[in-house]
Amino acid sequence: MASITLNIDGQAVTAESGQTVLEAARAAGIYIPTLCYHPDLPPAGQCRLCLVEITGFRGLVTACTTEATDGMEVRTDTPEIEHLRRLTVELLLAEHPSDCLTCSANLSCDLQKLAAELGVDRIRFRRTTRSLPLDDSNPFFVRDPNKCILCGRCVQTCRELQGVGAVDFVERGYATLIEPSRGMPLGDSDCESCGECVVRCPTGALAKRDRRQPTRRVTTICPYCGTGCSLVLGIKGSEIVSVEGDRESPVNHGRLCVKGRFGQDFVNSTDRLTTPLIKRDGNFVEATWDEALDLVARRFAEYKGDAFGALSSSRCTNEENYLVQKFARAVMQSNSVDNCARLCHAPTVTGLGQAFGMGGGTNPLADVEGAECLFVIGSNATSAHPVAGAILRAAARRVPLIVADPRKIALVKEAELHLPLRPGTDVALLMGMARVIVDQGLHDAEFLAQRCENLDAFREALADFDLDRVEEITGVPQNDIVRAALTYATRKPALIIYSLGITEHSHGTDNVLGLANLALLTGNVGKPSAGVMPMRGQNNVQGACDMGAGPGAFPGYQSVADDELRAKFERHWGCSLPPEPGRPEVEMIQAALEGKTQALYCVGVDPAFTVADATRVQEALRACEFLVFQDIFLNGSAEFADVVLPGASYAEKDGTFTNLERRVQRVRKAIEPIGDSRPDWLITCQIAQRMGASGFDFDDPSQVLDEIGQLMPSFAGISFDRLDDGGIQWPCPGPDHPGTPRLHVEKFNTPSGKGRLSALAYRPPAEHADDDYPFTLTTGRNLYHFHLAMTCRVPGLMAIYPEEEIMINPADADELGIRTGDRVAVSSRRGRLIAKARVTDMVAPKGSYMSFHFYDTPTNVLTQQALDPVAKTPEYKVTAIRIEKADNGG
Ligand code: SF4
Ligand code: SF4
Ligand code: SF4
Ligand code: FES
Repeated sequence: MASITLNIDGQAVTAESGQTVLEAARAAGIYIPTLCYHPDLPPAGQCRLCLVEITGFRGLVTACTTEATDGMEVRTDTPEIEHLRRLTVELLLAEHPSDCLTCSANLSCDLQKLAAELGVDRIRFRRTTRSLPLDDSNPFFVRDPNKCILCGRCVQTCRELQGVGAVDFVERGYATLIEPSRGMPLGDSDCESCGECVVRCPTGALAKRDRRQPTRRVTTICPYCGTGCSLVLGIKGSEIVSVEGDRESPVNHGRLCVKGRFGQDFVNSTDRLTTPLIKRDGNFVEATWDEALDLVARRFAEYKGDAFGALSSSRCTNEENYLVQKFARAVMQSNSVDNCARLCHAPTVTGLGQAFGMGGGTNPLADVEGAECLFVIGSNATSAHPVAGAILRAAARRVPLIVADPRKIALVKEAELHLPLRPGTDVALLMGMARVIVDQGLHDAEFLAQRCENLDAFREALADFDLDRVEEITGVPQNDIVRAALTYATRKPALIIYSLGITEHSHGTDNVLGLANLALLTGNVGKPSAGVMPMRGQNNVQGACDMGAGPGAFPGYQSVADDELRAKFERHWGCSLPPEPGRPEVEMIQAALEGKTQALYCVGVDPAFTVADATRVQEALRACEFLVFQDIFLNGSAEFADVVLPGASYAEKDGTFTNLERRVQRVRKAIEPIGDSRPDWLITCQIAQRMGASGFDFDDPSQVLDEIGQLMPSFAGISFDRLDDGGIQWPCPGPDHPGTPRLHVEKFNTPSGKGRLSALAYRPPAEHADDDYPFTLTTGRNLYHFHLAMTCRVPGLMAIYPEEEIMINPADADELGIRTGDRVAVSSRRGRLIAKARVTDMVAPKGSYMSFHFYDTPTNVLTQQALDPVAKTPEYKVTAIRIEKADNGG
């Protein structure tokens, strides 16, 4: 960028071309007061505090909106300017309540600070403070319109950063106010409770309800979704009393969603597990750690080999996942270890692994910024990955956004094109788009020739996907399929973003391969802002997979069946290891029903409620001979346990999480483990040590990460010391390697080095709506909840979204005589439950949608265990159901 030189208050200042006078002055250390300006927002020129005099300009101008130019002469401190600034502040104060000492913004209020800086010691005008009612309809913060100085930062934040537009200016002149959309209280408006406006409000007009002040702060990573936002926990004693976004983070740049900012109460919840429990005569009794660990070690020793299985958690750290799989393999001699990715993103690992040779997202989130086209499919990002969703919403104002989703999700409002495909018909849509691209000659012939393989078979497979057939299968009009294909193929670079709407199918791997096909066909991979981005669900689902918490591969996707690789692990771990892949999660459940899996070690998972066909899972857990559950709460599955071990939450331990961009980030201990709980890594090590195993004598998780680096080439250069500055994206093969923001730049990681196109055939979903079960249910997350165990312990989130809802289209609701709020009975071939109806055209006629966040509405009693044949992920997204109005609560 070109440099310019200007003169500010007699000082020569060098600035970058395009900077405003305010930015140039601030960079040179010259103070200009501001109120409406915020570095995250476009300048609004609203408050007029930043007035300056510029030679050649008529009158005074606002420095925040005036571009600095070469040779410009600026005065920031003339008597006239000082007078006007004081006058402005006086006028604001005349309208402002004077309860500074008791105001939540006392000492942090920008107006208060400015008054002091400008020496405003009296107000010469008649005081005209307003007495408008407080808006306390939001559980996390209060809006006091009397303290509002109409700077507009909240309006801009909500519109520009969040893409929501929940608040705006209303009325004119002295009557001007900021109000929530449609004049309703904030709690009933479109507000998503992200709190971003509260953070930027310069006065106490928007203030958090919880006014406790921390005595220290610890930077760590959000425990909810795979976006991996960095947050700063404010601690007082042993409690988290505040949460701020980390402005230094390359992922979220200080931004947080409602769960990250306000959803941490679960850590200090009074019903945390604080002591080990052993079941005696059908009841849990408290036990010492020695008693519990001795019992677990003794009983586990009876089930070595095929009879043992371990389920590890995407909520736990990389180090903990590594240790669980090491324990299963090295101590228990079983490869039957899995993690909750099996229920969501395992097809990402298998699909992207097959096409690109590596199961990780190809690009950093920051690449959304440079993309010329965004294709979002099966990803309700504004609810499931809200900060990433807000970034997408903002980008959609600049470039075409194509959304493929059976529902009218929030992103559809911003989209140029919505493809409302029938659930489970993704392969037909994606191959149909590919056919259009090839037929119209829009494929990247050079990229295909040089970097791809299997083109002939792929072309042949396209013959089955003429647009008549594709329209018939998907329900998407042909013209829209063509428009989507042309936009994606011609607006380069293009990014594909997908999530569980793609993976949770009986053909999830094929769906992922269909996306990889599109990227390869158009050369949209291995380049900045071109690639395929799986939005990994939970905070560390990427890491749990990377760490080998799966039945077929050691850490780093190194096959257990490969003699050479197995020998490497045997040497390092000092033991022999079983060569046959173990059972994935759903097969472990089946094996338990058949008496083959007899002992289970469940760490931070709740299979009785999260695995499809939950009633059957509960039978399987009952059938196991010895069950150990390790968690921070007595979760729903724990009732089946023989021993319950109290783990520590993310805030109570050190370690690393890996986000959806493959970024390994530091999780830092902020408080001591609650009660007598212990970090999961330590518990696993202590069980192993009591069983006489060596190789589990770690003093802290940094040593575990060092061991991971010795065995996993893509982690060889990653250590705690190197992660302080925003984390590192794997592969990072050496201590001097900076990490890899983009994959496949030179070549793919496949044996041939080429990207592999797939000749896909369309397979319908495993279950269809019929006369008995005429609706198709899809399941997913909602904005205010994540895990049953965590968000249901956050009173504010429960106040906003207290119970499960089933979405029903208005036409169907009319036919069934159902209105929003009615109780309805929902049944499938496997189970039945009662839920509250929400009538909305977000779902198509004969479609329906539920989340899975509530114990008293266990959605997964309805879902089925039809599995993707490669990834073994259940088909959560397509369940045939019946909906009936429930009488007397059902
Ligand atoms: S509520 Fe706060 S941020 Fe919004 S206009 Fe008023 S003072 Fe500015
Ligand atoms: S909390 Fe978030 S969504 Fe609500 S008004 Fe503020 S910025 Fe908008
Ligand atoms: S977007 Fe995800 S990681 Fe970020 S604050 Fe929200 S829940 Fe946490
Ligand atoms: S800071 Fe420039 S007008 Fe408000």
